Amino acid sequence: MTRETNRADRHAEFSLVSPQATAGAIVAEPATRPEKITADAVVLFLTEGGIGGGAAAELDRATGGLITRLAAAGEITGKRHECVPLLAAPGLEAGQLLVVGLGKREEVECGVLYRAAATAARHLAGRPRTKVVFVADGWWSARQVEQAVAGAAVGMVGQDLYRAEPRRIRFGATVWTNASPETVRTGATIADGVNLARRLVNTPPDDLYPQSFAEEAAAVAGRTGMEIEIWDEERLRRERCEAMLAVGRGSSRPPRLVILRYRGPGRDAGARSPRGDAPDLALVGKGVTFDSGGLSLKPSDSMLSMKCDMAGGAAVLAATATIAALRLPVHVVAAIGLVENMTGPAAYKLGDVITARSGTTIEVHNTDAEGRVVLADVLDVVRELQPRAIVDAATLTGACMVALGQDVAGLFSNDQPWCDTLAAAARAVGEPVWQLPMYADYDEHIKSEVADIKNVGDGRWGGAITAAKFLERFVGGIPWTHVDIAGPAFAEKSRPWTDGGATGAMVRPFVELVRGPA
Ligand code: BES
Ligand code: MN
Ligand code: ZN
Repeated sequence: MTRETNRADRHAEFSLVSPQATAGAIVAEPATRPEKITADAVVLFLTEGGIGGGAAAELDRATGGLITRLAAAGEITGKRHECVPLLAAPGLEAGQLLVVGLGKREEVECGVLYRAAATAARHLAGRPRTKVVFVADGWWSARQVEQAVAGAAVGMVGQDLYRAEPRRIRFGATVWTNASPETVRTGATIADGVNLARRLVNTPPDDLYPQSFAEEAAAVAGRTGMEIEIWDEERLRRERCEAMLAVGRGSSRPPRLVILRYRGPGRDAGARSPRGDAPDLALVGKGVTFDSGGLSLKPSDSMLSMKCDMAGGAAVLAATATIAALRLPVHVVAAIGLVENMTGPAAYKLGDVITARSGTTIEVHNTDAEGRVVLADVLDVVRELQPRAIVDAATLTGACMVALGQDVAGLFSNDQPWCDTLAAAARAVGEPVWQLPMYADYDEHIKSEVADIKNVGDGRWGGAITAAKFLERFVGGIPWTHVDIAGPAFAEKSRPWTDGGATGAMVRPFVELVRGPA
């Protein structure tokens, strides 16, 4: 057994984030002559510009110019997401050579490589594969290799958690050549995070509810060495989390608040830091494990995908676990508000006035605007810890999807530099985000005649912004950015790079945010 294979086994066995999530070994191996590679498939990334030098030229030579001939005939173009399997290619021992397109070379960035590798992996994962070899190219940066590794490990995982005959079958082993073992390890860990978030979101709501989510979080915390606190109803009552409790009252599944803490190297308790012991960052997640709309009941069509309404919480848990598994030098606190929004006899009602933990009173105008009510208390809990900055992720409004579509997350902030930092991190890994305005005029829209504020804006316009304005009331002036992931968290349909369902949106951006620019 080679040293590399050893390392591979270690990754599979000790995947800190989520052993069930990715599975299979993911390893780096030194490049050998392409004709000698034994594998079910070899994956080659090809740009639109043609073969050039590097990996493509070598494989072209090994196959006696096959790629050149097919490119000349227009059978292979290198266009983005094009997948051309060359079965039993001459000169190769491998079962097939899969050529996947990268598009124009000058436009290749982390996000392009993540998706291209995921496309190839998703394609191959349609059948059982013992070993798949991905050939990284010499001109890619370490960050780009890492994101490609992550993409491949995400692409081979589907949403078919409950099918007797799964549509995607994970590879026995994934091998990357021309990549450093450390880069591959990091990429595989990031993929574990994305796949953990996806699994949690894809799990049906009767299996994943506040308490079972909290148990999952405890298991993850145990593996990655995070501290965890779980507040049950009694603790929530003692802590005056009446907003969270109100939303949870219509359900037979009581709410939970999960608080995770990770102290990286140099940021342990009592560390002599100029910043004292306050967290560097607080991540906050909306964890509505099912959103029926409550008494303001959703129509059936809109309710169908509402198991996804804890995607913000899943992203926050998975990103924090990944940050801990990578042992990044930060002090992060993560808080996830877990409730089920239902219509039971004790359900909160329209016209109710709730006193949130901060003392702000909220008049309920629509029980389907429950996410902001839950987050009011969660934000107040982290505000008390006085972190340097806050980010929250929430599948908060359909209005954000009306504004930006299904693939772009909305950003809202009280602090432009902090918002810019998060936007840069998201774009660096290829997740599109777009900022919406927070003009003071919108504050008028959530004023109530009866209480301090109401939980929906006047009329239906600007609904994503009035929701963000509501949240802003609870962050106490700390630099804060809200990410509305109602669109990108959950894909209605499959795409070349992913099966439909949960996407793991914002896991990679949050990890990137903590790492800082490469
Ligand atoms: N969870 C929904 C938002 C959502 C919609 C997420 C579609 C993912 C896909 C949220 O709780 C909600 O219902 N928002 C309402 C707010 C309205 C009542 C002011 C909405 O967007 O319709
Ligand atoms: Mn709702
Ligand atoms: Zn919701």
